[in-house]
Amino acid sequence: MHSSVYPTTFTGKTVIVTGSSRGIGRTLAEAFAAQGANVVVNYSNNSGKAEEVVRGIKAAGGQATAIRADVGRVPEIESLFAQTFETFGGIDILVNNAGLMHTVPLLQVTEEDFDRQFAVNVKGTFFACQAAAARMNEGGRIINFSTSVTGAMFPGYSVYAGTKGAVEQFTRQLAKEFGPKGITINALAPGPVNTELFMQDKSESQIAGIVGMNAFGRLGETDDITGAALFLAGEDARWITGQTLRVNGGFV
Ligand SMILES: NC(=O)c1ccc[n+]([C@@H]2O[C@H](COP(=O)([O-])OP(=O)(O)OC[C@H]3O[C@@H](n4cnc5c(N)ncnc54)[C@H](OP(=O)(O)O)[C@@H]3O)[C@@H](O)[C@H]2O)c1
Repeated sequence: MHSSVYPTTFTGKTVIVTGSSRGIGRTLAEAFAAQGANVVVNYSNNSGKAEEVVRGIKAAGGQATAIRADVGRVPEIESLFAQTFETFGGIDILVNNAGLMHTVPLLQVTEEDFDRQFAVNVKGTFFACQAAAARMNEGGRIINFSTSVTGAMFPGYSVYAGTKGAVEQFTRQLAKEFGPKGITINALAPGPVNTELFMQDKSESQIAGIVGMNAFGRLGETDDITGAALFLAGEDARWITGQTLRVNGGFV
């Protein structure tokens, strides 16, 4: 893992990272815990992986708990926040990282696939923001997840990119509703990152082509996203809200 240039600390802060049993969310959960935060490792299916993340954090001296909640279902978001309060007594930082991607040409998009991606990526992000509006401590932080493919316009990505377009607009819209409590809300838009979500259904030549589109000629790794997330979650980012930051090695 790369070291940070401007170290910050999250001691005493409670962070929910949705979808942190693997991928980018897992790396973020571990990074927040390493800087002293109480971390909620949220997941929807794989309790074994989530418990493994919690065990690793605790073994390194951190605080974490795993909470199952499908963020595509609003009552489960409520339960996620309620259990976070029971365990850690509050919520300071929400990272809406959980997301699904399924890429197919327009003629192959089914209603079920459209509804599921919008449920997790859009409804999940929106209602987690609503739960945060009701419960988050003053001076809190919300980080939503978009994607740089909103700027790449790849064929087959229309539904997924559409979900993230909605997330970016919510981020802009909600900044002024959160402002009176000193809460900032921003979005990160990674480029391609080496996770199961990115690797699924891609050939080696497709991956090589995508890698060749950034300035550094390598695939992003999950810890390439960490510094930007910790910065937006920290005190130094207090004047940044309603923005989307592309973290993509110059991909678009
Ligand atoms: N990887 C990339 O290239 C890339 C690029 C741009 C943006 N992003 C965005 O970054 C975020 C993380 O992506 P990733 O690549 O790390 O994905 P990933 O490797 O597929 O991991 C997804 C995580 O989300 C959880 N999850 C999935 N559905 C959920 C639900 N309904 N409720 C709660 N948790 C759920 C999964 O847990 P379970 O297995 O338990 O369900 C897993 O922990 C997503 O929003 C994605 O759109 C990724």
